[in-house]
Amino acid sequence: MECNAEKDRVIRVKMIKICSNIDGLSRKVALFWVKLAKEAERDARYLHVALAGGSTPKHLYQLLAQPEFAQQMPWESVHIYMGDERSVPHDHADSNYRMAQETFLEQVPIPTDNIHPMDAAPDPEAGARAYEQLLTTKLPLSENGVPIFDLILLGLGPDGHTASLFPDTTILQEKTHYVAAVYVEKLKTWRVSLTFPVINQARHVLVMASGEGKAAILEQIMDAKNDEKYPVQMIEPQGDMIWYLDRAAASLLSEST
Ligand code: 6PG
Repeated sequence: MECNAEKDRVIRVKMIKICSNIDGLSRKVALFWVKLAKEAERDARYLHVALAGGSTPKHLYQLLAQPEFAQQMPWESVHIYMGDERSVPHDHADSNYRMAQETFLEQVPIPTDNIHPMDAAPDPEAGARAYEQLLTTKLPLSENGVPIFDLILLGLGPDGHTASLFPDTTILQEKTHYVAAVYVEKLKTWRVSLTFPVINQARHVLVMASGEGKAAILEQIMDAKNDEKYPVQMIEPQGDMIWYLDRAAASLLSEST
């Protein structure tokens, strides 16, 4: 499904792409990822990608496993990380890593050494420290020593959370660590997540949202008077930030957004 009705609008430095449905937006993101990976391969460097969890990116991941995309992607040039993880073992049904494994990682010819699961169980604090160490070892670093992702994929929760950066949680104030453990009271559970310092250092941040269940929060987020009210609004990357929405998710956005 092509994004025939796609509209590009620029909000400050952010861009919103509106596609007709989840297939259209997933195809756009897959093409963008393949383009970045081919550039990395050409330049003999790695493409470091952080995955989103939740249900929205599943279609994208399934597409990446299809020959149409799987055969184009230079998998040896791609390193995969998790943007956040739930405090369950990797083989648990709620694990974001398991979801990524099942939808595409175990089906494509990516070297095992290029896949970097995040441990949020049994000890989320230890998992966060270990993952931060991994990032500072594997990724190129900024002048200030911050790991630089080429591409960070994010989802959006109805409360404005992204990754595991939930409203009213301590992790929102994290300034020094790139990965942190956080207790999310409303879910009564621990999570481990990338933090704003590393997300904001990324070259490309893509936020994907699909379905009418995301329409109300998107209307709030795109309203300038709500600036910095929701966690996702604290993303101001060094590179670009692109919102990939489908029509249902974008249904409450006005033309002037
Ligand atoms: C997670 C996430 C989280 C997710 C949003 C949207 O582990 O749950 O990474 O930030 O992306 O909650 O989830 P859906 O795509 O399921 O709506």
